Amino acid sequence: MNEHVQTTTSAPLFNPLAPEFIRDPYPHYERLRTTDPMHLTPLGMFVASRHAEVSLVLRDKRFGKDYVERSKRRYGPQIMDEPVFRSMSHWMLQQDPPDHTRLRGLVVKAFTARRVEDMRPRIQQIVDQTLDAIEAKGRMDLIEDFAFRLPVTIICDMLGIPEEHREVFYNSSRDGGRLLDPVPLTKAEIEQGNASNLMAQMYFQQLFELRRKNPGDDLTTQLVQAEEDGSKLSNEELTANIILLFGAGHETTVNLIGNGLLALHRNPDQLALLKANPALTTNAVEEFLRYDSSVQLTGRVALEDIEDLGGKKIPKGESVLCLLGSANRDPAVYPDRPDRLDITRPKIRPLSFGGGIHLCLGAQLARIEAEVAIATLLRRLPDLRLDDAENPEWRPTFVLRGLKRLPASW
Ligand code: HEM
Repeated sequence: MNEHVQTTTSAPLFNPLAPEFIRDPYPHYERLRTTDPMHLTPLGMFVASRHAEVSLVLRDKRFGKDYVERSKRRYGPQIMDEPVFRSMSHWMLQQDPPDHTRLRGLVVKAFTARRVEDMRPRIQQIVDQTLDAIEAKGRMDLIEDFAFRLPVTIICDMLGIPEEHREVFYNSSRDGGRLLDPVPLTKAEIEQGNASNLMAQMYFQQLFELRRKNPGDDLTTQLVQAEEDGSKLSNEELTANIILLFGAGHETTVNLIGNGLLALHRNPDQLALLKANPALTTNAVEEFLRYDSSVQLTGRVALEDIEDLGGKKIPKGESVLCLLGSANRDPAVYPDRPDRLDITRPKIRPLSFGGGIHLCLGAQLARIEAEVAIATLLRRLPDLRLDDAENPEWRPTFVLRGLKRLPASW
């Protein structure tokens, strides 16, 4: 057989860390949806790519996280001795009821639509200050210089992290995303994860002491008080979930803003439309979430044998990877050219924030941050141009999809 034909026919359908997959996963998703919508990978995981199965798995009680067993199956029983895995096992994101319900219940009030709407003036202030500082320079990296500061500042506010402690968070690396990818971690990556986890634990223990002595109107104070109560959460759960809250909204929101700005500049008609009609911003953000989601995948484990999911039998204990970015472009739900960016598209309900009991806690916050950031940028720097909209440099992670940098000038 001709060698070229052999490589193309045997190319894996789902190879998420391949550079061409990272650059543009969407043709690969289309191939999955049309040829094998519940694809079984060589590692024994099912990959759901259609909207129907993805949204069902996220909401169906027969599926859960089963984090400890899932990790042991993948890495062996000793994996729970690794501090980073033990810490992640306490994240509400990785828990099933009743622990999930208890942990989420402790913080959910801080993220209601009303509470988040009240933060809008503060969000506007941060965006304006960022632009004030850079406007005269005439150029910037939209990722590091513009998008990054906003979500970090807001979560620092919410957690009651004092101003004088923040500089280190603005300068810290954004390389933790590999922990989430559906490809086993190397020993070195696990060690890197352990080291970052240890640093975070050391910092947050100090913050807990501070908030015990000086309670404030913030989430850390609230959780420290719940821990002191004894029955509501353990010390390990407190630390792990503060680390989760601190990290969950950084990269994701930065990338919503970055991917949205890239999409707009690659579609000049849509950019012009939005500049002329800022009232379209809310819908445009929904379309950015759908069109190029900053979270591409989340997983569930079958808690019992599932007889039929999209034509496949899923045995108890097996994982289903839900391709959110693929579901968002499924023509069954978006019949009008799903691969096109259309900021006026009606009835956009992206699965980018997941669904069911783990539906993203920060969804409304992220939406408002992106809305204010993008609308303000277009208003204040109307002549902004990207250096190279066609060949941007993507970060090498798959679950978190985003750009390394996005240089622009005006
Ligand atoms: C564009 C921005 C964001 C995206 C795309 C995103 C996406 C997601 C997704 C897909 C999940 C569910 C995962 C699953 O079902 O397994 C999730 C959960 C979560 N997100 Fe976000 N997120 C974003 C921003 C934020 C922000 C700003 C925060 C907080 C400040 C946050 C905090 C959380 C938390 C705590 C969970 C776990 C909820 C639970 O397990 O009950 N996220 N997010």
